[in-house]
Amino acid sequence: MAHSILITGGAGFIGSHVVRRFLDAFPDAHIVNLDALTYAGNLENLRDIEDNPRYTFVKGDITDAELVDRLFGEHGFDGVVHLAAESHVDRSIADPLAFVHTNVIGTVVLLHAAKKHWGEQTDGKRFYHVSTDEVYGTLGAEGLFTEDTPYDPRSPYSASKASSDHFVRAWYHTYGLPVVLSNCSNNYGSFQFPEKLLPLAIRNIRDGKPIPIYGDGKYTRDWLWVVDHARAIEVVYRDGVLGETYNIGGFNEWQNIDLIHLLCKVMDRKLNRPEGESAKLITFVKDRPGHDKRYAIDAGKIADKLGWKPSVTFEQGLEKTVDWYLANETWLEHVTSGAYKQYYEKQYADR
Ligand code: NAD
Ligand code: DAU
Repeated sequence: MAHSILITGGAGFIGSHVVRRFLDAFPDAHIVNLDALTYAGNLENLRDIEDNPRYTFVKGDITDAELVDRLFGEHGFDGVVHLAAESHVDRSIADPLAFVHTNVIGTVVLLHAAKKHWGEQTDGKRFYHVSTDEVYGTLGAEGLFTEDTPYDPRSPYSASKASSDHFVRAWYHTYGLPVVLSNCSNNYGSFQFPEKLLPLAIRNIRDGKPIPIYGDGKYTRDWLWVVDHARAIEVVYRDGVLGETYNIGGFNEWQNIDLIHLLCKVMDRKLNRPEGESAKLITFVKDRPGHDKRYAIDAGKIADKLGWKPSVTFEQGLEKTVDWYLANETWLEHVTSGAYKQYYEKQYADR
């Protein structure tokens, strides 16, 4: 019988890359994508694979326990790759309850269904929870997050993700559910919703609009190309040791302001603008409350134990990303019309 995998949040940014990767990497697998199609979910992200006979899309909410239970019964999932989440820190500051609902309750609903349907028959089964480096809190100038760094979440988003991680581990220790987790740094690449820094800046530069930089711009993030994250998820799903966690990152730290200067240079070249033109759009705005100073991942464990490392340099990944956004204006127009327009006006109005 075919291997059956439930991917949640497969219509989102990372999820769509994971669906594509898993269809290629697991040729005997049937993939069911459960996604509520919130503002961040978009079936246009999956146009190229939507007719694949090994792929089924289900529009639904992970907090809908009846639906999740029915899907487990109908499809007999061997694996779950759980990505569905509310994912934007700024939105979590404005509307924390939505994050608790989806990220915490939704995860527990999935764990509960997996335990019920798998029972003691856990051979070949795997519940993979995709999480974030933000659960570890914030770093000073030195040091890296390892898998042993104590949790210290500081935004409603990271607190909800930390909570979901704890529940996943509780189901492993208490009920023997075969779980594996990973915590990844900032992703960038195609299909990322333009509320996040890089696609937002690409779009604003293209349109000659201000690039909003929070605070002094000296906040540091560790950037990884989304396709490399999807490759890492495949490797951890295949070979990760049950009960264990793998940190995933690019060993690629940038202060926001330096990153944006680099992006401006690339954009000037792509848009045939004189060098320095796009950088004039940089605008320092009011800081994000509770803004974490620095994230940086030690991805040594996944490299040593599972042989994963990024496939592209940051410069290569950034070029591909800029090219993709400039070539996919219709996608950008579709996702930025309507509700996103209102969000943008509200989010940046008093900054
Ligand atoms: P995203 O916001 O682009 O996509 C989230 C997807 O989940 C969307 O398709 C949305 O429709 C769906 N969704 C939201 N609520 C749902 C619900 N209640 N039921 C069903 N579907 C629902 O997010 P992303 O950036 O692709 O992140 C995916 C996962 O990876 C998240 O769990 C996030 O915490 C984690 N992560 C993201 C990053 C990053 O840099 N983006 C880094 C590390 C980890
Ligand atoms: O570290 C992994 C996390 O990365 C993921 O878990 C989250 O889902 C994902 O959204 C991302 O969180 P960040 O808060 O780091 O990403 P964001 O793109 O929102 O911001 C990146 C940095 O840029 C951060 O320091 C805030 C800053 N920023 C962001 C926006 C949207 C600005 O300076 N201006 C902006 O307009």
